[in-house]
Amino acid sequence: MNKIYNFSAGPAMLPTEVMRDAKLEFCDWNGIGVSILEISHREKYFIEIVKEAEQNLRDLLKVPNNYKILFCHGGARTQFSIIPMNLLGKKTTADYIVSGYWSNFAANEAKKYCKTNIIKILEEKNGKQSLKQMSKWLLNKESAYVHYCPNETISGLAIHEEPIFFKNKTIIADCSSSILSKPIDISLYGVIYASAQKNIGPSGITIVIIREDLLGKASLQTPSVFNYTLLTKHKSMINTPSTFSLYLSGMVLKWLKKQGGLEKIIIKNYKKSQLLYNIIDNCNFYINKIAQKNRSIMNVHFRTQDSKLDKIFIKDAKNKGLFSLKGHKSLGGIRASIYNAMPIDGVTALVDFMIDFKQRYTQ
Ligand SMILES: Cc1ncc(COP(=O)(O)O)c(C=O)c1O
Repeated sequence: MNKIYNFSAGPAMLPTEVMRDAKLEFCDWNGIGVSILEISHREKYFIEIVKEAEQNLRDLLKVPNNYKILFCHGGARTQFSIIPMNLLGKKTTADYIVSGYWSNFAANEAKKYCKTNIIKILEEKNGKQSLKQMSKWLLNKESAYVHYCPNETISGLAIHEEPIFFKNKTIIADCSSSILSKPIDISLYGVIYASAQKNIGPSGITIVIIREDLLGKASLQTPSVFNYTLLTKHKSMINTPSTFSLYLSGMVLKWLKKQGGLEKIIIKNYKKSQLLYNIIDNCNFYINKIAQKNRSIMNVHFRTQDSKLDKIFIKDAKNKGLFSLKGHKSLGGIRASIYNAMPIDGVTALVDFMIDFKQRYTQ
């Protein structure tokens, strides 16, 4: 069988070395005679794993000391509700920037808790889609915070700017599909959050990085396990965490450090995405409608001229070992998710397939 490359959007591929190491120690972790999955989360071995994971995340993202790192339950969608629950305080309005499916979802969920000032930033000009730059976002003076999604996983629309314009605003970013793909300046944000299953590890935990002064505002209705202040106090262990996800995510973070951290991974990620955008741009066969400045380096969406041909592409690619290229059901087309664990060889194999497929289906 050919080598399989997995382009799934999430849960996504994990570094092969990490899975190999996990397999080796699955039944007997570090010589203690039992699996890490069958010990208490209060056990010193497990506490050490969590401490180390947190420290590695801090190092990789250069998280300032006045920020807490929390490991939550419930995935990113749960954050859509617990962000307003935790951060509105006495305010009743929040700004929601809508750039696609996930930011829209977050805004709709927030409507249950507050007035939302919806700011739509998608623009279409000459057949190209782009996003309004941050300096043109019309925020509400009274809002408790502004929420946005730097990388829309489904469409591959990304905001590469950092939020430097909003000096007195609390910025909240859903970084589920962009976290750890490049260095960012955490001090510009109030909260960033991300579910694990793309660039961090297997599904099960959601990472929340929060500036300390934002703690202590949760509404009384906030469930204890989702109250950021209580989570901080209990070191993310009010109840039993997803131990498998925490353990394996810790291994992925160590792996990422070994790769040279975010300064090195951004170079590789940029190169991988360019390989795909180059082949798309240099022929009339594949279409990507996103303006250069808003193209994602994690999720590359494209299609052929014909949706029937897209289906053949996805099926043929799978037979050649290129797994999970189907676009999200809301958009269709083809999507290659190329997170940190995807090697350059995987992208090259996809590019070779795209060239061959084009030749076979061009009259
Ligand atoms: C940007 C973004 N936000 C939120 C979500 C929802 O994540 P979860 O399934 O962990 O709730 C996803 C899932 O793909 C996503 O890509």
